[in-house]
Amino acid sequence: MEFKATIDPKAHNATGCAVVGVYEDGDLGKAAREVDTQLGGLLAKLHGDGDFAGKLGDMLLLPAPAGSAAERVLLVGLGARAGFGRKQYRKALQSTVQALGKTGAKDAIVYLALEDVPDLDVAYRARSVAEVFCAQLYKIPDLKTNPKPKAPRLSSVSVAVADARAAKSAMEGLRIGAAVGSGMSLSRDLANLPPNVCTPAYLGTRAQALAKAFPSIKVKVFDASGIKALKMGAFLAVTQGSDQPPRLIVCEYHGGKKGAAPVCLIGKGITFDSGGISLKDPPAMDEMKFDMSGGATVLGALRAVVELKLPINVVVIVPTCENMPSGGAVKPADIVTTMSGQTVEILNTDAEGRLILCDAITYSRRFKPAAVIDVATLTGACIVALGNHFSGLMSNNESLAGELASAGIRADDRAWRLPIGEEYVEQLKSNFADIANVGGREGGASTAASFLSKFAKDLHWAHLDVAGTAWLSGAQKGSTGRPIPLLVDFLINRVRSK
Ligand code: BES
Ligand code: MN
Ligand code: ZN
Repeated sequence: MEFKATIDPKAHNATGCAVVGVYEDGDLGKAAREVDTQLGGLLAKLHGDGDFAGKLGDMLLLPAPAGSAAERVLLVGLGARAGFGRKQYRKALQSTVQALGKTGAKDAIVYLALEDVPDLDVAYRARSVAEVFCAQLYKIPDLKTNPKPKAPRLSSVSVAVADARAAKSAMEGLRIGAAVGSGMSLSRDLANLPPNVCTPAYLGTRAQALAKAFPSIKVKVFDASGIKALKMGAFLAVTQGSDQPPRLIVCEYHGGKKGAAPVCLIGKGITFDSGGISLKDPPAMDEMKFDMSGGATVLGALRAVVELKLPINVVVIVPTCENMPSGGAVKPADIVTTMSGQTVEILNTDAEGRLILCDAITYSRRFKPAAVIDVATLTGACIVALGNHFSGLMSNNESLAGELASAGIRADDRAWRLPIGEEYVEQLKSNFADIANVGGREGGASTAASFLSKFAKDLHWAHLDVAGTAWLSGAQKGSTGRPIPLLVDFLINRVRSK
C-alpha cells in the first residue's frame, strides 16, 4: 500500500473514492460540507430523509455522484462531535478500510484527518491512517487449502490536509505509520505460525533473513553450545526437555553515533509453552504458540526502526526455545546457576519465561545499554489484573517508566504501571537457593517482574508484560502486533529528546 499526503481541503481532487466524515444530527465534517455543496445539498437531504444518521461506524457509499470529482464518495459516521476523540477517529478509520475493501476503488483520498481530534496533531492523525490501514488489511498466513480471496484492488491512499505545512507533518506521520505497520505484520506473521513451523531455529533463520534484507542489521545466532559457553544455566534448564534446539538471537543496529549507548530490547521467545513437567491444563493450550510474541515484537520493532533509519543504536535479544515435558526435562526442585551467578530453585517449570529472560538481561550488560526493555507474555496474573486493554509496565527507573507510559498513550497502545520491589522479592525466598522462580498466587505479575529486577540491578530497566495484549482469543484468535506501536514511539521520542 502506498500512502501519500495531499493538499485538498475543499475535496476537489479526482480519486477512486473520497472518504468524508459526518457527525450525528446532520453535522457535516469539513470535507463533507464541501461535498454537500458539490452535490447540491445531497448530504443534508440524506440526513433529513433518515438515510444517514452519522452514528460512529455508519457507512454509506455514493457511487458516481454527479458534481464530485470522485468516482465514489464514502460517507463515514463519526458519532457526536462532542464525543469525537482518538478512539472514535480510529474506529472511523477501521470502518473505512472495511468499506473500501468492498468497493472497486484503486485509490482513495481520506478526508478524516481534516477534522479536529483532541490531543492528536496532524502527524499522528496521518500516522493512524497508515497504521489502521496496514493492520486492517493484514491477512493471517494461514495454511487453508481453499483458494485465497482476491487481494483488494486498493493500492494507494492519500490523506487530505489543509496546507503545505500540514502536508509535511502528515508525510512524516505516514512514513512512521507505514513502518510500524510493516513491523507489526512481520511480528504477527511469526506469532500466528503454528509451533511446528515457528521453531527456535526458524526464528533464528527469520532474523538472519531480516539482516539480509536490511544490511544495517548485524545478526548473531547462538546455538546450544554457544548458549552453554555463555553459562546461561536458567535458559538451558528450560530448553532441556525439548527436542527442538534452542537459539539466542542477537541483532545489532547502529543508526546512532558510534559508541553511543544502545537501547536493548529483549523478547521472550518460547515457541511453545506446554508448562513442562508442571504441565498446563489442556484448554487453550494451543494459544501457547503465541508465547514467543515478545520475541516477534522486538524483531518487528527492529524492522520498523530500520525502515525509518532512526538515528539510534538498538540491540535486539531473543532467547528462544520450547518448554516441554520429557524424561530429560527440568523438574520442580531443580536448582540452576544463572549467567549472573545467582542460583534459582525452579519450583514450577511453567514459570519459564523469567528463566530465559534473566539470562538475556545479564547478557545485555555487555552492550553497556542506556536502557533495557524486555517484552514478554509472562503471566496469566497480568491478564487478571489488566484484562486485554493494557500491557503491564514495571520498571526500576521512574523516567524510563514515564517515557514508556507516554509512548503508549500517544501510540494508542497503552501500558499501565504495576509495582515491583522488596515485598514481592520476599515472596520468592527459597531455603535452598538464592531465589525461587515462583512466589505464590498473590501479585503474580509483580513477583515475576520482581524476579527479573534481581538481574537488572543498576540497569535502566523496564518490563512489559504483554500476556493480555499480544494476541486475541475466540473468533478473532490471532496476534495483535502489540506493543510495537508503543516501542517505536518510545524510540522515536528518545531520538527527538537527545
Ligand atoms: N506463558 C505463560 C503466561 C501466560 C499464560 C500468558 C496464559 C498468556 C496466557 C507463562 O509462562 C506462565 O505459564 N506463567 C505462569 C506463572 C506461574 C506458574 C507462576 C502463569 O501465569 O500461570
Ligand atoms: Mn509457562
Ligand atoms: Zn510462558
